[in-house]
Amino acid sequence: MVPSARNVDLLVKGIGELVTATGAEPAGGAALGQVVRTRNAALAVTGSVIVAAGPEDDVCAGCEGARVLDANGGVVIPGFVDAHTHPVFAGTRENEFEQRLAGKSYVEIAAAGGGIASSVRGVRDASKEVLLARLLVRLDRFLALGTTTVEAKTGYGLSLEDEMKCLEVIRDAASQHPVELVPTFLGAHDYPPEFKDRKSEYVDLLLEEMLPAVAESGLAEYADVFTESHVFGIEDSRRIMGRAAELGLRLRLHVDQLTPLGGAELAADLGADSADHLECISEEGIQALGEAGVVPVLCPLVPLFIGQTQEAPGRRIVDAGLAPAIATDFNPGSCFVQSLPEALSWAALRYGLSAAECLVAATKNAACSLRRGETLGTLEVGKQADFVLTDLPNLEHLTYELGRSPVRTVVKRGEVVHEREGAA
Ligand code: NIG
Ligand code: FE
Repeated sequence: MVPSARNVDLLVKGIGELVTATGAEPAGGAALGQVVRTRNAALAVTGSVIVAAGPEDDVCAGCEGARVLDANGGVVIPGFVDAHTHPVFAGTRENEFEQRLAGKSYVEIAAAGGGIASSVRGVRDASKEVLLARLLVRLDRFLALGTTTVEAKTGYGLSLEDEMKCLEVIRDAASQHPVELVPTFLGAHDYPPEFKDRKSEYVDLLLEEMLPAVAESGLAEYADVFTESHVFGIEDSRRIMGRAAELGLRLRLHVDQLTPLGGAELAADLGADSADHLECISEEGIQALGEAGVVPVLCPLVPLFIGQTQEAPGRRIVDAGLAPAIATDFNPGSCFVQSLPEALSWAALRYGLSAAECLVAATKNAACSLRRGETLGTLEVGKQADFVLTDLPNLEHLTYELGRSPVRTVVKRGEVVHEREGAA
């Protein structure tokens, strides 16, 4: 349909290559790399919705009067969806980065009182205002890197009061910032210091008080658990996630990251929307996720960042027909990186994924893992107008250029929300 002049607010012209997945279902196996690439394209937007996308001559007819953005011959892609982040924290943990370089492991640092516990001290000491101010700065950085939707976990409060403080910070940030946030309650991230010697009591507190109060507040869409041998085992994770589901929360789980506990099988059993990390996933775990239709969320920067030699079997997961998302896992400990372009280059290099596969994983599949496949993740008529104008000459440069942001202009819900200095 050719839009008329009256109903187009924003017209993006001069697109060297418009690249997008299609549809609203996660794409796996050979379909992961299927994108539509349109040369000399344009995009038309009315309000917050895409009303036309395709060859420039077709799209532009009848659009006189709309505000025009010139893509300068660059690639235009959907806004990135980061399906796994921990962005609500106060202090940073560069000291632990240095300790790991000197030979200490992530788990040794945690056992010595660092790790998540160190961020818990920071969050408990910080006011809501301070946490909000820090989060807003981080959201600016996400936007500048082309990320328009972010799953945001709590998990550094670990008491009802401090976890609620973090959920309120996420809610307040979402109301003030163009980045769309999907809130996840991660009270089962670790045991708080006051429960170190009575861990089962913390599990009871989660089951009996924290999860019901969080569900009642309506501030979290998801619940998550760090299923790992030094944190929450399989049976506790099952109880915690089972209770969360009973209370109406959707599920995503940190599983099989450092040790092969069978967390992927648990995520499949529970019918979670995503199973994240998967560095140590077994072949049975891969099959179970595939059969249950759980989206594997891969975080390729984390092993690099914590010096873990075992990496997720990304290519095997795709070849088994699964539909992975790729996320940063941005957090102060195991991955202080907000750049999805950087994560995608690592996914390409470490898993052997093509640029097209990486793009679909970080847009459509990531949106589907958050149950937003109907509105986000592709550039098609009727979808929300979230997209990125890059200075890339072709799609392959997305992963080929390691360490440089290609983002010139970012549009969220039909509004220009970021422009690189000098790009206008
Ligand atoms: O996803 N795995 C658990 N949580 C984070 C690390 C959190 C931290 O170290 O602060 C992760 O890697
Ligand atoms: Fe994480």
